[in-house]
Amino acid sequence: MPNVGQRPGKRVFIETYGCQMNLADSELMGGVLSTRGYTAAPNHDEADVILINTCAVRERAEERVFGRLSHLLRYKNERPEVILGVTGCMAERLREVITERAPYVDLVIGPDAYRRLPELLEQCQEVDADPVIDVKLDRAETYTGLTPERRPGISGWVTVQRGCDKFCTFCIVPFVRGRERGVSPEEILTQCRDMAARGYKEVTLLGQTVNSYKHEDTDFADLLEEVVKVEGIERVRFTSPYPTDFTPKLIATMAKHDKICNYLHLPLQSGSDRTLEEMKRLYTSAEFFKLVDDIRAAIPDIAMSTDIIVGFPGETDEDYEETVAALERIRFDFAYLFKYSERDGTYASRKLPDTLDEKTKGRRLAALIERQEAISAEIFQNRIGTTVRVMVEGESRRDAADLCGRSDDFKMTVFPKPEGRELKPGDFVNVRITDATSHTLLGEIVEG
Ligand code: 5AD
Repeated sequence: MPNVGQRPGKRVFIETYGCQMNLADSELMGGVLSTRGYTAAPNHDEADVILINTCAVRERAEERVFGRLSHLLRYKNERPEVILGVTGCMAERLREVITERAPYVDLVIGPDAYRRLPELLEQCQEVDADPVIDVKLDRAETYTGLTPERRPGISGWVTVQRGCDKFCTFCIVPFVRGRERGVSPEEILTQCRDMAARGYKEVTLLGQTVNSYKHEDTDFADLLEEVVKVEGIERVRFTSPYPTDFTPKLIATMAKHDKICNYLHLPLQSGSDRTLEEMKRLYTSAEFFKLVDDIRAAIPDIAMSTDIIVGFPGETDEDYEETVAALERIRFDFAYLFKYSERDGTYASRKLPDTLDEKTKGRRLAALIERQEAISAEIFQNRIGTTVRVMVEGESRRDAADLCGRSDDFKMTVFPKPEGRELKPGDFVNVRITDATSHTLLGEIVEG
């Protein structure tokens, strides 16, 4: 049906919430629509189609989207022909609630329906049509053959795996993104080469449990071996790995290749074995510590970050203290710390009553943030006097006299523009660190 959904001149604006995979999915939708003549609108006012690509991982993310939807009603009131769509994980989970609470929404589609987006938008054009809904999950959909519309840049994402099979008891992802499937290595390499040809220097491979990646005989370490060979790509990152799928082979592969960055986001979730078991994480804290030790033994200067949930059902003071102790022992460079948010349909919501009051959760979270901030500050301070290799991203937001970029180990680094030397995004420089906050390194360019 080559002619269906052709809309030359139509403009689309996509607003994205949630994880990096959602950002990548928005680029995918942009790519699907661009083949049908749509272009990107610079803002909502100039858009014929407004899509909000949503997250369902915590209740707060969903409440924010409802807030946004009531705000976006303004555009429909001003220009009734505007199509307003809700896409992604929250659309998958809350199709009925969305159409009830925001009946002016024209389109509700889940993460496996993006290939059909142009046809679905056509259906929205029909006068007085009910909202168009497509939330079918598809075990086979990997969006092979579709090219995401990536803005010109130096750093981008490639989705290598969709869905999740782990079923952690707190997590909505398997329900809204479906079963795990790996994208073929050929498709992934085509995308990486395409990015390199367009001047990209860094790729981040994405999957919910990215190192569980499997496609026929190719595992994640094999995939990395191929991706590092792509000429022009100078840095390879990936997120997020699942601890028990972290094989010695993968550690060896990371250690072997300079191009694979020395940074890992490794979600711990809790330091209590009892809680880890209730969460159906497949490791104990001791096993996690051993993994961290093994990785650090092979790659001594690796930086690490993590995710922690506080206030999981039944979490006692002792459980919580074990989480604090785990953060003290491991000393992550930084951490994303969340309050437990009950998600309908998950095992925890059915079987484990959300017993803790908000005050306790809030107190534990605040104390944990404070502790982690202190650890981060110490780690960042310890970098003073060292030299880090930075890929220039552009001008610092704070001061146009400064440039910024990330170190190999993912630390935002800010330094004055050098005199008499024009640096552009994607250039690499060595920066000697002279100062630090708990989230940023400050320094100056040195030769070499
Ligand atoms: N409540 C709070 N945090 C959650 N996460 C996932 N599900 C929930 C939930 N129900 C966190 C986990 C995960 C990160 C992406 O979000 O820490 O690693």
